[in-house]
Amino acid sequence: MTTVAPSPRGTPGLAVRSAHRHDPEATGLFGVYAHVPFCLSRCHYCDFVTYTGMEGLRRPYAAALLAEAELAVAALGARPPTVTSVFVGGGTPTLLPAGDLGRLLGRLRGLLDFAADAEVTVEANPETVDQQVADGLAAAGVTRVSLGAQSFDDRVLAALGRAHGAARVGQAVASLRRAGIDALNLDLIFGCPEEDEASWADSLAAAVALAPAHLSAYALTVEPATRFGRMVAAGRMAEPDEDLLADRYEAACAVLAAAGWHHYEVSNWARDDPPGHGLAPLPARASRHNLTYWRRGPYLGLGAGAHEFSGGARRWNGPGVPAYLAAVAAAGRRPTAGEEHLTGEQAAFELLALRLRTADGLDPAEAERLGVDPHGAAVAELREAGLLAAGPRVALTERGMFLHGEVVTRLAPSPARPTRPTPDALPA
Ligand SMILES: C[S@@+](CC[C@H](N)C(=O)[O-])C[C@H]1O[C@@H](n2cnc3c(N)ncnc32)[C@H](O)[C@@H]1O
Ligand code: SF4
Repeated sequence: MTTVAPSPRGTPGLAVRSAHRHDPEATGLFGVYAHVPFCLSRCHYCDFVTYTGMEGLRRPYAAALLAEAELAVAALGARPPTVTSVFVGGGTPTLLPAGDLGRLLGRLRGLLDFAADAEVTVEANPETVDQQVADGLAAAGVTRVSLGAQSFDDRVLAALGRAHGAARVGQAVASLRRAGIDALNLDLIFGCPEEDEASWADSLAAAVALAPAHLSAYALTVEPATRFGRMVAAGRMAEPDEDLLADRYEAACAVLAAAGWHHYEVSNWARDDPPGHGLAPLPARASRHNLTYWRRGPYLGLGAGAHEFSGGARRWNGPGVPAYLAAVAAAGRRPTAGEEHLTGEQAAFELLALRLRTADGLDPAEAERLGVDPHGAAVAELREAGLLAAGPRVALTERGMFLHGEVVTRLAPSPARPTRPTPDALPA
């Protein structure tokens, strides 16, 4: 059986990137993604659109994001939807001065209506978060911070090429809480070099002890254009073993459930605090921005390498920073590298794959609309195999979540797959 372990490449907007005919506005969600492609150093596993150095281009880049925001909003027409989430991802957005982030968020608020409870997330490498940065984020109107913890084992962090040790994560969490930002996510990666069963258990325990509202746990994926990719190609490193990944995933599911987190998406766990919040039946602290991808809602994508889905089409910017500055700041146009529309059949496949990622799955009528017979043999067999939950809905079990790709393959009408490869620069 081919397995598809949970990974950021499986994140909606990453796994699929095509337009759909499903009415996007029906989700009630509208996001803005802004990409900041700068990092202190390149982690050994990372193939996101990001660059080290380029200090002199960071402020001009921040200014260009504002200019692109205006161009993007102008293209939305007279009545743009209300913004329900903003996600400033990277790269390492906290390498931009907080004032620049504040100006970007301020310009977005000037250009668009924001929901009163709009979620405003900034992604951060813990190494870049001290008290001054945390205070600056709070002053800029950031409501949620997603920290790349990855592991709490210093040997694993060194093997991953991370710029920080484990202790730095707790310090960043404390600074953010002192600044008044309590909606925190920690990213973890499992199946890493130097990791063993005990160190993964310790990392989970350390993450639980910090009590974030949200946790993401991704299986390590080895991408060709990374140091790990080159090591694997040269025979100096083994690909993560599928059985080992399954064991680590199972451990995460058990530990996080026991500690009170809800496993609401393949790679994501959240607190239901306060219960019955507007995201129900998903937990209250589920990521509203990622939910926009998983529901195939519309979102703008600003910045080098960013992707967006708006007006029924998916479009994306080229990855280079100088080319981005030349197009946006100098020529006053968006640096669109491509655009894509899907057939209705492909759109249905995408929606099926995305909707199955979240624990609530599909009700029988939705499943039928997407070409899946909720009473048919495929669903019955997957229930029998323990990959789909019992009950009227078509929804994955935790074992099914680990094998999400396999389940989708069994359920999907065969000719409907989108054909384009996976993009690199969307939020995790
Ligand atoms: C853009 S990074 C986020 C934040 C920040 N740049 C940092 O690393 O601290 C998004 C997340 O994707 C995950 N990720 C990136 N590449 C990965 C890979 N090859 N395998 C597994 N997880 C990966 C990491 O957990 C990372 O925190
Ligand atoms: S994982 Fe995060 S910090 Fe590391 S290179 Fe990628 S974007 Fe930068």
